[in-house]
Amino acid sequence: MPFPFTRYPIIQAPMAGGATTPELVAAVSNAGGLGSLAGALLPPDRLREAIRQVRRLTDRPFNVNLFVLEAVEVESGMLEAALHRLQPIRAELGLPPGTAPQKFSEDFRAQLEVLLEEKPPVVSFHFDIVPAQVVERLHQAGCQVIGTATNRAEALAWEAAGADYICAQGGEAGGHRGTFMGPFEQSMTGTMALVPQLVEAVKIPVIAAGGIMDGRGIAAALLLGASAVQMGTAFLTCPESGIHPLYKQALLQAKGDPTVVTLTFSGRPARGLHNAFIARMQPYEAQVPPYPIQNALTSEIRQAAAKAGHTGYMSLWAGQAVSLCRSMPAAMLVETLMQETQTTLRSQCE
Ligand SMILES: Cc1cc2nc3c(=O)[nH]c(=O)nc-3n(C[C@H](O)[C@H](O)[C@H](O)COP(=O)(O)O)c2cc1C
Repeated sequence: MPFPFTRYPIIQAPMAGGATTPELVAAVSNAGGLGSLAGALLPPDRLREAIRQVRRLTDRPFNVNLFVLEAVEVESGMLEAALHRLQPIRAELGLPPGTAPQKFSEDFRAQLEVLLEEKPPVVSFHFDIVPAQVVERLHQAGCQVIGTATNRAEALAWEAAGADYICAQGGEAGGHRGTFMGPFEQSMTGTMALVPQLVEAVKIPVIAAGGIMDGRGIAAALLLGASAVQMGTAFLTCPESGIHPLYKQALLQAKGDPTVVTLTFSGRPARGLHNAFIARMQPYEAQVPPYPIQNALTSEIRQAAAKAGHTGYMSLWAGQAVSLCRSMPAAMLVETLMQETQTTLRSQCE
């Protein structure tokens, strides 16, 4: 089934943590792809402002993404132990001893209300599923809904909830795993194996995500039955991406696959470049509090590391095909990707 939102079947992935600036989102949408704004870490008023900023920069469709999160109960013993484990790294960065943060995450329900009011053309969800009534409310607001799935059961659940598209997140993908049914280790199926299985399982269109960096990957995903691709890592090195310059440099210098899936930064499995923080916290991985607690507790460390230009303690999320990163403006990347896809598909027919 063709991808109906845009001229090209390319979605720039939502990437929480500063990468998906309104400029990046709008550049991709203006170039004929679907730009995605990562809303998960933005307080409701900043989320609204970012959506309006995208609208000022493009009149094309775009996507806004949230993490589906419930409020957490935090046990004080767990908190103290987690802070204690992080203390040596805080001290190294010149930070005072850590204390309980004022909040652990943004209020998902308030963020959702902003989307219902601002009505972006597309809304996507990560980390969990929303009830059918929420999908229905979004439809009534005129939004199309994409649900992330990492296995068959999750894809079927999203289809039953009324989602319009499934984003099939393969194990190669950079950033957090979207798994919400069963242990994540059992949902690390690669994109090549996951996409055709989900295409068979559901009647709604499937978007392929994970390890797709160029036209060869896009062509392969389309041949597997995907209606579109969602690419994250490939867009991180565009000039419009808001990540730290040293993070960009690390991505552009990566050789082979220097990534690992780790819980150490956030308490939720996520794929990124292996670094000193992961190595030092690895022995405690089993004891790390769940997302969003650990994420909130490491926030100051990540910020201080960024300020000091110390990539060893920054989270450098990236997918397994990171060594194929290129540095070019987002519009040029979208055009290049489409040309490569056409060339690849044509060469297969000769
Ligand atoms: C830096 C980074 C941040 C990410 N943040 C989000 C996010 O906020 N929401 C989301 O749905 N997916 C997020 N993802 C995952 C992407 O949607 C997508 O699954 C992934 O980028 C695909 O793999 P690739 O990076 O190999 O292209 C993130 C990925 C990266 C690399």
